Amino acid sequence: MYSDFISLADFTSEELVDLLDVAGELKRKLKSREDHRVLAGQMLVMIFEKPSLRTRVTFETGIFQLGGSSIFIEDRLGRRETVPDVARNLERWVNGIVARTHRHEDVIELAHHASVPVINALTDSQHPCQVLADAMTLREHRGTLDGLRVAFVGDGNNMFASWAELATRFSFHLTLVCPEGYEGDPAVRTRAEKEARAGFTVSNDPMAGVKNADVVYTDVWASMGQEDEQEKRAAIFAPFQVNARMMAQAKADALFMHCLPAHRGEEVTDDVIEASRSIVFDQAENRLHAQKAVLVRLMAPR
Ligand code: CP
Ligand code: NVA
Repeated sequence: MYSDFISLADFTSEELVDLLDVAGELKRKLKSREDHRVLAGQMLVMIFEKPSLRTRVTFETGIFQLGGSSIFIEDRLGRRETVPDVARNLERWVNGIVARTHRHEDVIELAHHASVPVINALTDSQHPCQVLADAMTLREHRGTLDGLRVAFVGDGNNMFASWAELATRFSFHLTLVCPEGYEGDPAVRTRAEKEARAGFTVSNDPMAGVKNADVVYTDVWASMGQEDEQEKRAAIFAPFQVNARMMAQAKADALFMHCLPAHRGEEVTDDVIEASRSIVFDQAENRLHAQKAVLVRLMAPR
């Protein structure tokens, strides 16, 4: 049994399927206006070191819809007092902690010292909440993830790392399509090479890499905290822009996905993100339902 939501690697396939099922049920209840305030009276604290639109609004709306409330703190962890001390204060007052940090280790340390659930709202290494919502969205559009070919185009970053973990839990093939030298953490790739259910490959060829893909996924070229590399990366990543020419290499009905925020004209062109096979706003919507499932499973009495 899990007690935090830090990395998809901490979950079995069955536990992830359960979260996706709960998310679907919560979405149905919200749409049919059924009362689902199963976290009445519970308080969530959100500590964010980085900006956010989707993650912040969906957690705050989610806990509200579940009958609870939230407190938002914009601060750098460990600066004013130690991370363990923050954890040992918060656990005395609130029922759950959501943290968006630079250092992945800080979220792990929070979880280690807090007796209440800790949820990873993005670190420099991983973004499990986004990928849970992505899996939900793909299941809605394609029925299953099994048998799909997913091309993750761009930087081997935190988004890619969580997709690589998902590939060890569901039977889709994953290709990282990136410029040489931007493959990300070697440990993430080694694990994916060994454990991806339906295979994992890396391609440094932008057009060949997306060939026959069912899903073309991309993310910004410079993540939060890498702003000073923006210009250098823009030149290196230019051939990896997801545009109509690249989408034409994928299957005719291939879906386009992006975690957002999108830098239109950089990693993706307007025509691709606005096309009917772009499901980026479905992904954004499902952040709400997927994270509510995480809150319910971690915080509701079973
Ligand atoms: N996709 C995502 O996490 O968006 P925010 O950074 O706006 O929360
Ligand atoms: N890789 C991006 C994801 C934003 C949701 C970043 O970390 O900035």
